[in-house]
Amino acid sequence: MTHKELVLILDFGSQYTQLIARRIRELGVYSEIKPFDIDVEEIKKLNPKGIILSGGPSSVYAQDAPLPSRELFDIGCPILGICYGLQVMAYMLGGEVDPAQNREYGRAVLTIDDHSDLFFQLRDHIDVWMSHGDHLTAFPPAFEMIAHTANSPVASMRNPGKKWYGIQFHPEVVHTPQGNKILNNFVFKICQCAGDWNPSSFVETTIQGIKNQLGSGKALCALSGGVDSTVAAYLVARAIGRQLTCVFVDTGLLREGEAEQVCKYYEKADFEFRFVDASERFLQNLQGVIDPEQKRKIIGEEFIRVFEEEAEKIGDVKFLVQGTLYPDVIESVSTRGPSAMIKSHHNVGGLPEKMGLSLLEPLRELFKDEVRRVGRELHLPQNILGRHPFPGPGLAVRILGEIDEERLSILRPADRIFIEELQRNEQYDKIWQAFVVLLPIQTVGVMGDERTYENVIALRAVTSIDGMTADWAEIPNDLLAKISNRIINEVKGVNRVVYDISSKPPSTIEWE
Ligand code: XMP
Repeated sequence: MTHKELVLILDFGSQYTQLIARRIRELGVYSEIKPFDIDVEEIKKLNPKGIILSGGPSSVYAQDAPLPSRELFDIGCPILGICYGLQVMAYMLGGEVDPAQNREYGRAVLTIDDHSDLFFQLRDHIDVWMSHGDHLTAFPPAFEMIAHTANSPVASMRNPGKKWYGIQFHPEVVHTPQGNKILNNFVFKICQCAGDWNPSSFVETTIQGIKNQLGSGKALCALSGGVDSTVAAYLVARAIGRQLTCVFVDTGLLREGEAEQVCKYYEKADFEFRFVDASERFLQNLQGVIDPEQKRKIIGEEFIRVFEEEAEKIGDVKFLVQGTLYPDVIESVSTRGPSAMIKSHHNVGGLPEKMGLSLLEPLRELFKDEVRRVGRELHLPQNILGRHPFPGPGLAVRILGEIDEERLSILRPADRIFIEELQRNEQYDKIWQAFVVLLPIQTVGVMGDERTYENVIALRAVTSIDGMTADWAEIPNDLLAKISNRIINEVKGVNRVVYDISSKPPSTIEWE
């Protein structure tokens, strides 16, 4: 995909690197993250309007300190170094960086000495967020000070001739309230971007790109009913229409009414649509299986088998469409949290090599919220775009222990009641994901004058930005009470409801 304008971010490992990209894109300029040691020839090919060097946890004096190639400074485009990025510039261009004894961490007041470019139209004093160990003690030749703080007399520097800038603080975080203005000045005033990147320009260029890439080839897409695969499918369908076949598999592990709802919606679409009811196969293979990883493995393998069969029926398929998003793609030195290794996620990963398919991932440059915006641009309805994520292995990882029809028929209505009440009480859209879990234990209760010995349902609801970390959602108590009452009264076989108050980490969102 070629973009007219690109601001390139080189990642030195800061936890905020993705945030910089988001902020730049919010300004209407396409931005991409690459590893700090990317080949300079590759950068030249990307032809960026500007380059941002991110922060990072290292010290430039460390033995294995991440440093970019020296030729980076010969490319001739504007550069902004943030925090460690500033130190990299100073260190490589002949300034002095002091391995500080004390870390400066938290809020500071920045005094602006020069308002002409990076700090254009900002007040004289602004709050900024500092988070660094080393600090700059002397500028490299041809650099000058444009702002300072009480603790960092050299909190910001500029080489006006080269359009190189460095700032010691983080403009991308909310604790630097004027940070967006600073990035805005860099992108527009200094890099001279036009700012014409938005969902509709993305849709246009992507459709054209897919047309060119696919020609008259056939593509296949595994639809899950979720946001990402739906948006990917509709985008590809805009480009190649009925050359695309989407397959929706009923694994027998879907929620109440889900297969019917999803089919009803997709049958109207401009792609070929196939519904495969494979529920019996899946449930049979899962019989007696308790171990979560084994469940995931069985489902993943069976899914690939079903998919392979469908691909063979269609014949001559060349491409496989997947709804992969940007956070899954970024080649980064940042630590991205351990969740990728904790559970084996189920997808059609093994299929492309096995069948000689080329991957088509039209959303691989987007963040989740951008996918929703693209979906709106494609006129997909809010009830699809606002749906909570649902894992590939479905209810199998929400029924702890053995899975059978009886336990599915306990979980399904309980889940429906939970979601129904969240929607009726305007909580659903505030929550990243909500669902119920059926526990493999029974507890004692009393109904009427009778002793009961029945199942426990756990309610799980979390808020999150990207699913990597999450907090348990604070649902009003009276609503929790109502949900619990309804589940116990309406769902046969349940006599207790509990609420999960664990965050991720150390817990995960799903229980298995
Ligand atoms: P965890 O439980 O790891 O989940 O905190 C993070 C997010 O990923 C979803 N999830 C999956 N999605 N296939 C998927 O497509 C999977 O195998 C899978 N397992 C977990 C989970 O629902 C949450 O949104």
